[in-house]
Amino acid sequence: MADLILTDVSPIGSVLVMGAGSVGCYLGARLALAGHDVHFVGRPRVLDGLRELGLTITEPDGSSDTLDAGSLSLHEEVPSGLGISLVLLCVKSSATPSAATALARALPVGTLVLCMQNGLRNAEAARAVAARLRFLSGMVPFNVAEIGPGHFLRGSGGTLALEDDEVTRAWLPTLAEAGLPATTHKDIRAVQWGKLLLNLNNPVNALSGLPLREELLQPDLRATTAALIEEALCVLANARQRTANVTPVPNRWLPRLMRLPTPVFKILAARMLRIDPRARSSMADDLALGRRTEIGELCGEVVRLARSVGQRAPRNEKMLGLIRYVELTRLATGAPGRGPTAAAELRRTIETAT
Ligand SMILES: NC(=O)c1ccc[n+]([C@@H]2O[C@H](COP(=O)([O-])OP(=O)(O)OC[C@H]3O[C@@H](n4cnc5c(N)ncnc54)[C@H](OP(=O)(O)O)[C@@H]3O)[C@@H](O)[C@H]2O)c1
Repeated sequence: MADLILTDVSPIGSVLVMGAGSVGCYLGARLALAGHDVHFVGRPRVLDGLRELGLTITEPDGSSDTLDAGSLSLHEEVPSGLGISLVLLCVKSSATPSAATALARALPVGTLVLCMQNGLRNAEAARAVAARLRFLSGMVPFNVAEIGPGHFLRGSGGTLALEDDEVTRAWLPTLAEAGLPATTHKDIRAVQWGKLLLNLNNPVNALSGLPLREELLQPDLRATTAALIEEALCVLANARQRTANVTPVPNRWLPRLMRLPTPVFKILAARMLRIDPRARSSMADDLALGRRTEIGELCGEVVRLARSVGQRAPRNEKMLGLIRYVELTRLATGAPGRGPTAAAELRRTIETAT
């Protein structure tokens, strides 16, 4: 008697990427390349490129994979009735409430939504408007940049972090097989704060106008980031908020590491510098495209935490103001705002903020 072979390329049901941008296209592409049924919900700006050229992802080692345009399932609205068992929420934080509302209108009660965004409050913000779905938090440690229409580059490495739960644990093998190794964490808030500390480099990168690697090789710019992280660490300690180390460098050493002379930094931070020379922060993309940034979810969180313990965080307040100024100038005039983008001036402005 012939063996009964049951094959199912997608034993997990379908995946929906909500927010087909840098992170969403990369994560969705990895799952689709592993044979899963993936649906992408996005804007015409990105979807048009995918329709024309397909979806290409490039890894830090330079290898690339392409999904043909014809194989992609692309949507401008959240589709219903597709048997979605996992949603990866990949919109910027300011779009979370509207994206969550749209998901709740189309998907069955209890559908799992992993909020793969930076910041601390996306799952909370989504639950507030769409309590019928199940939102859990995730953290993406690596950088992804859109380097052309339909082409996304993962510029660095790392393991995804997911809020610990029976359902997230069940997804770990599937994610690992798709080239997305992940771990679960009981204290995901500590992981999010650990990532937030590293992301305090994002506004510095955005104001510098440089790719990430080039920016990290500039001592004044590193010192600016160090000043922001140092202040945040002080606030976190006073608020007794735990942070998890997201890189092999313990968080408390980050300011010292960033202030090292460049030749020493290059040796000790070799892993941090293993970034594709084209990679840039997503805040740099936001400013370039005239979009609202996530500065409120980064420096703004440090300022809020400081206030909650009766303190101030003047350096993070100053950086919040600088980025808001550029955002508003863009909005009002359509032209790039003039911020103190010269490295030494930026450093002085942040280090002497009172
Ligand atoms: N890029 C990175 O390296 C990286 C790494 C780790 C974590 N993250 C975090 O991941 C999140 C996403 O970042 P990203 O860089 O991938 O952003 P992104 O490239 O801007 O992608 C988000 C996309 O979602 C679209 N969108 C927003 N609301 C939507 C809706 N209701 N329906 C359909 N599409 C919608 C956006 O369009 P509009 O622009 O028109 O709103 C945008 O195209 C952020 O929280 C970011 O901080 C990013």
